Amino acid sequence: MILGICGSPRKKATEHVLREALAMLEKDGIETEFFTVRKKEISFCQHCDYCLKKKECRIRDDMYELYPLMKEAEGYIFATPVYNGGVSAQIKAVMDRTRAIVVENMDVFRHKIGMAIAVGGDRIGGQELAIQQIHTFFILNGIIPVSGGFFGANLGATFWSKDTLDGVMEDEGGFRSLRKTVRRFKEMYFRICRGNQNPK
Ligand SMILES: Cc1cc2nc3c(=O)[nH]c(=O)nc-3n(C[C@H](O)[C@H](O)[C@H](O)COP(=O)(O)O)c2cc1C
Repeated sequence: MILGICGSPRKKATEHVLREALAMLEKDGIETEFFTVRKKEISFCQHCDYCLKKKECRIRDDMYELYPLMKEAEGYIFATPVYNGGVSAQIKAVMDRTRAIVVENMDVFRHKIGMAIAVGGDRIGGQELAIQQIHTFFILNGIIPVSGGFFGANLGATFWSKDTLDGVMEDEGGFRSLRKTVRRFKEMYFRICRGNQNPK
């Protein structure tokens, strides 16, 4: 199962493109799950170190809906709006709060795959910086980051929403980067998670 995590507090551009990405995977028979931070209570990590002793997080909030999905997933798509040239605070909180499941199982993320989607209101508003932040989280945790490659995608899928849902839907270049990145992600999925058992 591939888990898509949407880091936008709105049901707008980021959620739309993440759902498109998951639909592309489903078309090839890859099971997906969708999780959004929207309307969820997800606190910041308090660095209380409770998890180091008890192997679980002391803060009983909506991360407890996400933890089992993260443990089960074979791969991840992190989608974030660009806020001040980086990821949203909401998705950063998700990243920080994974400390509890890493402490519980040091290998929880290792040898899995991950890709990133960043949606900015400006054409060049920090999308690549946000993707690098997500890739850094992947690398730190042993998740293999999947890029889209040059000629259209580079580090991953980058969108220019002009701050609206209509704007992102018109962003042909953005969808090109999404298709390229998802194509590579699928290849990696079948290679890493299915031992090259690509049905096609
Ligand atoms: C607090 C805040 C900071 C933002 N900073 C940036 C930015 O640095 N670069 C950018 O391109 N867009 C920025 N935006 C615009 C959002 O990235 C853009 O509207 C995006 O489409 C939001 O995603 P959503 O439609 O899924 O909510 C910012 C928006 C907010 C609310």
